[in-house]
Amino acid sequence: MESEVIMVIGAGQMGSGIAQVAAEAGYGVILHDVQMDFVENGMARIDKALSSQVQKGKIDDEGKRRVQSRIKGSVTYGDARNAHWIIEAVFEDYDVKAKIFSALDEICLPETLFATNTSSIPITRLAASVKRADRFIGIHFFNPPQVMRLVEIIPGLKTSRETVREARRFVEKVKKESVLVKDVPGFLVNRINAALRLEAYTCLMEGVASLEDIDKALKLALGHPMGPFELADFVGLDVGLNVLKTLYEGYKDPKWRPSLLLEKLVLSGDLGRKSGKGWYDYTSGQKLPRADVQF
Ligand code: 3HC
Repeated sequence: MESEVIMVIGAGQMGSGIAQVAAEAGYGVILHDVQMDFVENGMARIDKALSSQVQKGKIDDEGKRRVQSRIKGSVTYGDARNAHWIIEAVFEDYDVKAKIFSALDEICLPETLFATNTSSIPITRLAASVKRADRFIGIHFFNPPQVMRLVEIIPGLKTSRETVREARRFVEKVKKESVLVKDVPGFLVNRINAALRLEAYTCLMEGVASLEDIDKALKLALGHPMGPFELADFVGLDVGLNVLKTLYEGYKDPKWRPSLLLEKLVLSGDLGRKSGKGWYDYTSGQKLPRADVQF
């Protein structure tokens, strides 16, 4: 039987990770981005992640080749025509996402299911960009998608039960656990994590402890794999700021007001690991405290 095809839109960290887990589960995957070099970067990321598994003896070369042979690159939306699922994982911009979905709505088969991996934009709002709002849903992976075991399933106002069932089936097939979450600002995990992050920023600004000690405390006391500042740098300060803005605007509650310090860092172009600096400085290849910014 021919395997179902998933088209992943966006070959960045999240998109390439989702493409990898889908291919590992036996799906045929089309990894799409707007330029071929972006697609190639995504493929290189997958190659690196799979090579690391080969080195650790978790898969063999043949297994790696098998997974990679299931992933095709694309810069053409027309390749989505027969896809079973579209999973969008481009950067957090409503207009960009809505444009992609409405273009694909015209191209794809009526039965093709649409999912967004948005971390902050309401699913119901994105679903309004297509005529198939009943077949539109949030499928929210966590970074890195190859490792994190949870996926949030977020139905919009018009999402059908059948689409929720199909989303659950997909998540099970890619060997993740799911939680069903209402379409509220921040969904579930980002909402709780944002509250923790904001409190960490407040502690830092009140001088309760140093940035490194706040990270150390949460790792050693609560068993978090990364402290709140390390995690913010890992996810991207721009992504984290977007989540806070969504919570602030969505709930109209001052408790979600984004940290001014965080806004300043994002405005300066310091976005975390991906730009070399965020709450820490990574430019030497190591994670070091920043000397140039007074927190
Ligand atoms: N891609 C693929 N695999 C990766 C990876 C990556 N970027 N980074 C690490 N891994 C794999 C490693 O290969 C290793 O696999 P193995 O167990 O099969 O050998 C495993 O993860 C552990 O990696 P390491 O030993 O190198 O390093 P750590 O033990 O420090 O783990 C980590 C790295 C998994 C990133 C861990 O630090 C962690 O869990 N951090 C917290 C991540 C987190 O909270 N993510 C959620 C962020 S919020 C979010 O994504 C929502 C969004 O909407 C903002």
